[in-house]
Parts: sequence; structure tokens; C-alpha cells
Amino acid sequence: MANPQSPYAIECMGITRKFGSFTAVDNLTLRVKKGELFGFLGPNGAGKTTTINMLTTLIRPTEGKALVAGFDLAEQGALVRSRIGVVPQSFALFEELTPIENLWYLGELYEMDRQTVAKRTEELLKIVTLYDKKDVQSGTFSGGMKQRLSVAAGLLHSPQILFMDEPTTGLDPQSRIALRELTQQLNQTGITVIYTTHDMDEADKICQRIAIMDHGKLKALGTSKELKEYAGHSHKIILELDHHDGKLLEELKKLTDAISVTSEGKMVELRVKKLRHDVVHKLTDYLYRHDVEVGEFNISEPTLEEVFITVTKKELRD
Ligand SMILES: Nc1ncnc2c1ncn2[C@@H]1O[C@H](COP(=O)(O)OP(=O)(O)OP(=O)(O)O)[C@@H](O)[C@H]1O
Ligand SMILES: [Mg+2]
Repeated sequence: MANPQSPYAIECMGITRKFGSFTAVDNLTLRVKKGELFGFLGPNGAGKTTTINMLTTLIRPTEGKALVAGFDLAEQGALVRSRIGVVPQSFALFEELTPIENLWYLGELYEMDRQTVAKRTEELLKIVTLYDKKDVQSGTFSGGMKQRLSVAAGLLHSPQILFMDEPTTGLDPQSRIALRELTQQLNQTGITVIYTTHDMDEADKICQRIAIMDHGKLKALGTSKELKEYAGHSHKIILELDHHDGKLLEELKKLTDAISVTSEGKMVELRVKKLRHDVVHKLTDYLYRHDVEVGEFNISEPTLEEVFITVTKKELRD
């Protein structure tokens, strides 16, 4: 039986999936905590969908073991399926049916009682803001509407864990933002969300922890902050100074504990590993006392994209 005390929604212990001699997912070990919004980030072909397909019992791992909602993937598939919802990478509902009909059909598949289906359908179509389109054929919907309908379908049987495979790919910015907000709202109601994307900015914005996968392997795992520290990236301080010389640049470097200082014309760039809270004050004070006028003053964090490229390298994927 599943251990209700377990803090984990998912525990993967060395799961591997081979297609012939090709290894799509290679010895993946990780844990997702209950209630987490957990991201799988990786380039095309990294193995994200294959991982999701294994964890949702669509395909079997070639090796390894995993517990999903506390149940063994290989031995207790039906119990796993009853606790999870899936929003697949491509639209998997009937285009010729309306939202109401699609959800009714799913309710029959899940063998849910009709009263519960009616109640959930109304609730969910309101949550995903499709209630006024409940009787319109889904095939006529925009990409964003179809994805929101897929979310409603994934939630029909009140799962504990929702798997979302690149839910925002191909959507316009408004639909992407709406879907991200919806995902966060759902997560705040206690649903664990597994979210795959290759949009680093998106992962950075919404995921509490991120696993970076490449070539089937787990390359890095942590919060966005931890990943940025792990990859050893630095903050950038950009200053526009009306004048400077080598001595002044050396002083600025010392003052900020920078690892490097470079300049081009009036622009000076300092790279610091750890941003100290008093750095702005120290710099402005020093420059003021030395009669240097400051134009632009900009501090930027390392981006997850820099981490991603460090971890996954730059070569293009097939
Ligand atoms: N049924 C299959 N037969 C053979 N190879 C497969 C099969 N399914 C996936 N693969 C291969 O496994 C690798 C991982 O694919 P997967 O779809 O899991 O990647 P992904 O990270 O989801 O990529 P994307 O971002 O493009 O969706 C790819 O090289 C893919 O071609
Ligand atoms: Mg995929």
C-alpha cells in the first residue's frame, strides 16, 4: 500500500527506457515532493515526454522502479492512473465534440458517477474560462482554448498529480501567461504539477524546482537559484562612467569583490559571484567621492539560459 506519510509525490529510482538499442531515458533518479510545481527542462529529444509517458503508465520502463502517488508503477498501474491527470503534448480530445461532451465521455471512461461528472464539468469549465463555450465544437477552438480544455480534462477525476507536457508551446503570449497562471492556481490548491518545457524563462518563473535533462540523463536539479549558483554564473554590474582609468577600475573591482572588470568606452562591466547587499551604496558613494559621474547603472542576475547552455552545451539537436 502507498504510505500516506511519504513526503513524495513521485520517486524515480534509476528508470531507464530503451527503444531498440537507443536509450531515450537513462537511469533517472529523482524525487518530486507532494505539492511541488516541478519542471523538466530539456532540449528536443532530451527524454522529457518519454519520462512522462513512463510515469503516467503509457509505456513501461525497461529498467528501474518508480513510485507515483505512492504506488508502484509496474505493479499498481491502475491505482497510479486513478491518482494522476495528464495534459499531453498534443491535443488528445475529440475535435468534433464540445467541451461538455468530451468531459462526459472521459467521465464514462473513468467510470465516474454522472452527478460528480456534471458538477466537476461545470466547476472545471469555469476554472479554465471555457464555460461560455461549453457547447461549441472543440475543433473550432484556438490553441490556447484547446490547451485549457485539456487541463480541464486532466483534472476531471480530481487527481493528486497533474502531468503537463509542454502545455504552452505554440501559444501566443496571452495564452501562455493565462495557462501559467492557471497552473500556479491549481498548484496552490495542493495539486502536485509536473511541467515540461524548453522555455527557460517559463521554468524560472513558475517552477519551484527544475530538473535539466539532456540525452536522456539528468544533468542538474534544484531551484532556479541553486542551478544558477551550481553553474557558477555571475551577476553583471554595468556602469556608464563619464571618465575612468586603470586605477579606478582596479578600485571598483576590489570594492565589489568582482572576478573581472572590463571596459569599452564609457561602459564598465564588473562580474561578481555573490552580490552583496551594500554594493550599490558602496559604488555610488565611491564614485561620487571621486567625482565620477554615473549614467547607466544596471545589475543583472545570471539567467537560467546561461545555466542551461552550460549544462546542455550548444550543439543543435535532430
Ligand atoms: N517510440 C519511440 N521509438 C523510438 N524512439 C523514440 C520513441 N519515442 C521517443 N523516441 C526517441 O527518444 C528520444 C527522446 O524523445 P522524447 O520525445 O522523450 O524527447 P522530449 O524531451 O520530449 O523532446 P521534445 O522537446 O521534442 O518534445 C528522442 O531521440 C526520440 O526520437
Ligand atoms: Mg516532448
